[in-house]
Amino acid sequence: MQTDSSFTFVLFGGTGDLSMRKILPALFEAHRAGGMLADSGKIVAVARHVADRAAYIDWVVEHVKPHVSKNGVDETAWASFLDRIEFVKIDLGNPEDFTLLRDALSGRPGIRVFYLATGPSLFVPICRALASVGLNENSRIVLEKPLGYDLKSSNAINDAVGEIFAEEQIYRIDHYLGKEPVQNLLALRFGNVLFEPLWRREWVESIQITIAEELGVEARGDFYDNTGALRDMVQNHLLQLLSIVAMEPPHSMDSDSVRDEKLRVLRALKPIDPRDIGKVAVRGQYHAGVIRGSGVPAYATEPGVKPDSTTETFVAVKVEIENWRWSGVPFFLRTGKRLADRVAEIVVNFRAVPHSALGASALRGGANRLVIRLQPNETIRLYCLAKQPGEGMNLASVHLDLAFDRFFREGQMEAYQRLLLDVINGRLALFVRRDEQEAAWRWVEPILNEWAASNKPPKPYAAGTWGPAAASAMLAQHGTCWLEEEN
Ligand code: BG6
Repeated sequence: MQTDSSFTFVLFGGTGDLSMRKILPALFEAHRAGGMLADSGKIVAVARHVADRAAYIDWVVEHVKPHVSKNGVDETAWASFLDRIEFVKIDLGNPEDFTLLRDALSGRPGIRVFYLATGPSLFVPICRALASVGLNENSRIVLEKPLGYDLKSSNAINDAVGEIFAEEQIYRIDHYLGKEPVQNLLALRFGNVLFEPLWRREWVESIQITIAEELGVEARGDFYDNTGALRDMVQNHLLQLLSIVAMEPPHSMDSDSVRDEKLRVLRALKPIDPRDIGKVAVRGQYHAGVIRGSGVPAYATEPGVKPDSTTETFVAVKVEIENWRWSGVPFFLRTGKRLADRVAEIVVNFRAVPHSALGASALRGGANRLVIRLQPNETIRLYCLAKQPGEGMNLASVHLDLAFDRFFREGQMEAYQRLLLDVINGRLALFVRRDEQEAAWRWVEPILNEWAASNKPPKPYAAGTWGPAAASAMLAQHGTCWLEEEN
């Protein structure tokens, strides 16, 4: 992909964790690959606690370099990458400082991208300060999640930002949408004729979507304790994955065709009756346990977490979609920290054959199953029944595997790299539109409210397990189980 579109990428929160781990490494990769970023494109970092450009570059070398290029840093590319970086010292609490930014950006060619890698409480003040010095013209703004705490606060941010930037200028990041395997899901569904006729209630019994993490809350205890897994992962990543799995074929891949179809799914989610929450949603919190042979502490003893915290680190929830394609098919979503494995996958369980001449084993549900492993090791696995060799007609489960890294040995792109290039090049398809975000908040809100009002604590689970037993019981009521519980 060659580009000559010039840009200035202004990074607010230039010394934050996200800039260090994701944004600057992604920009470096795009730079190193060559031809993806215009030579004249610049990165302007904004921070308060750094004296000047030289000090910022020292910070980048110390903190960002260890996160780039797992297989060793290309030193020539690294040196020319640093040449792209400029620095403006701004106190975000002081709107007058934005004249410094305006002066630094004046007369530059191309589009301006403002990336707000800051806490959401700063989104509106930054946007207002940008507008006060006329920097909202010819620009795009990138908002990191979480965008708000609930529907009301998210609307308040969107309203205020929307007074300054048009919707086409606003890029709401959900990094799951930038992942190669999630892109591949679109290719699998809409580039092949094979699955589409089966992708509906007549043939699908249930669908599971899991994002499991081994990591705990790391250094983010303070943030996480005010957020919890429902806001951190379900409202955004899991509902976005669900909408891609369940959406109708879009008529094109342009940004609004895809987002319109996702929105239809989000609006068709069956609202949860607050009285049913105990039956359709499980919340858990990890206690001390062992992961890969090492002991890990309980969530409540992590730095920044209140010792009597009732914040959930695990959620499993049953979702239904009220439309002709999916009516009656349960979608089970699950995410958690400190689980037994790091895995993100989608499991489509097909119905059993309606009549079997081959014995009862062909009548078992789950004989046909499609497992789409998003990470790690992107794979698609299709389970079928086959005859066991030898006498008689005994069936056994076999599978066809499609391991993407064997087909495509290079060219994989990290999510942030793809998304940042999309912002610079003005492609909105992989960013969340305001109406999608609202629909997602609207759906999770009854659960948030019920949990906030409840005096029952989250169910405990030991770190290194698959979460509370109630999550398994919820599936058992539907005659199914989580994939790892099969044997
Ligand atoms: C982030 C969440 O959005 O996604 C984190 O805030 C979580 O809590 C992360 O760890 C998971 O992303 P990935 O790409 O590592 O699966």
